[in-house]
Amino acid sequence: MTDAFPPPRACPYAPPPRLAELRRDAPISRVRIWDGSTPWLLTRYADVRAVLADRRFSVDPTRPGYPARGPASRGRRTGRGSFISMDGLEHARLRRMLIAEFTVRRVEALRPAIERTAAELLDDLAAGPRPADLVAGYALPLPSIVISELLGVPYEDHAFFEERARAMLDDSAGGGANRAATAELARYLGTLLQRRSAHPTDDLLGRLSAEQVATGALSRSDAVATAILLLVAGHETTANQIALSTAFLLDNPEHAEVFRGDAPATAVDELLRLLTITHFGRRRVATADVELGGVTIRAGEGVIAAADIANRDPGEFADPEAVDFGRSPNHHLAFGHGEHLCLGHHLARLELRVALTALLRRLPRLRLAVPTGELPFRHAHPIYGIDRLPVTWD
Ligand code: HEM
Repeated sequence: MTDAFPPPRACPYAPPPRLAELRRDAPISRVRIWDGSTPWLLTRYADVRAVLADRRFSVDPTRPGYPARGPASRGRRTGRGSFISMDGLEHARLRRMLIAEFTVRRVEALRPAIERTAAELLDDLAAGPRPADLVAGYALPLPSIVISELLGVPYEDHAFFEERARAMLDDSAGGGANRAATAELARYLGTLLQRRSAHPTDDLLGRLSAEQVATGALSRSDAVATAILLLVAGHETTANQIALSTAFLLDNPEHAEVFRGDAPATAVDELLRLLTITHFGRRRVATADVELGGVTIRAGEGVIAAADIANRDPGEFADPEAVDFGRSPNHHLAFGHGEHLCLGHHLARLELRVALTALLRRLPRLRLAVPTGELPFRHAHPIYGIDRLPVTWD
């Protein structure tokens, strides 16, 4: 019998146990997804990494055989989308325009602003009522403020863009809601970009407008698609990673202790490895016949590269189920791998480190205000995490 994907979790902080069985017994196997199709599921580290680095696998969701995450993500594409769903030279050309914005040096320069924002949010949280929702008060606004300031999007509009971002990615919201959210974000960011052509600003949208759109290197519609990608990818993922990491640390106080002291730089990578929030896997479709681990994946067949279970593969990680904050090397796949490696990975690491350290030092007696079993984990959303995190402290 072909397994349904994704299978259910047993522990909210670990991938479904069935995925570990498949990795052991049938590491390249067919699974059944929502539309009845049966793409290949890869669960071994070496195979996931090999496919993500192989240009014969396409990210283009309009190609027949691409394993869409759900009806909404299949129906969403009207235009050509952003470069996260483009292959080859077009992808490289559009991505290259942004590389300079996300280097270690540029990201490190944001550290004081990120630390200040974290401290201000914590002042407000500490002065407010208990219990408090840590997602609404901290985990979401922190990356949301950071990415708005970086792009030059007014943070006052956060309720608008956060809600649209969420609906855009959420397959359970239905195709109509999903397309409407994307169109509204496109109109909103299109207007912001338009204003910059008359009044240049020193922010990412301003630079994109002056250096790429004005010179004809970037079309208006590609500029809008890029802006949507950065705004959405820049806060949804990090917010959930902060919230889920916090819940995990509060449930495991001996690990939380590490962040109250001088956590090694490697600590956040261990959280990224263990909690890998993109739990629906990286989706690809083969454009040629490819031999992989004794199996032939035919041109036109879909592939789901399950980074979450690959990140616990004993073939790559010694004692993979153990939390080892000093683990080094730690070549996890939580940010993907290859040409589509997360553009914001330096920024995400910095935000996560600042967020957890500032929080656990400022509120050393922070604890969950409800049992773990009552937390609203995002099982059905392509970005795993928690919608609300009730916490209290004394
Ligand atoms: C791509 C994860 C934060 C921007 C990706 C991919 C993953 C990922 C797995 C690869 C997609 C694929 O292979 O199909 C994460 C996680 C984050 C995070 C877990 C936080 C913990 C960020 C931030 C930004 C960002 C803060 C800032 C703008 C992007 C962009 C891409 C991307 C632009 C597309 C790269 C390309 O296709 O070339 N991310 N991300 N991400 N991420 Fe992130």
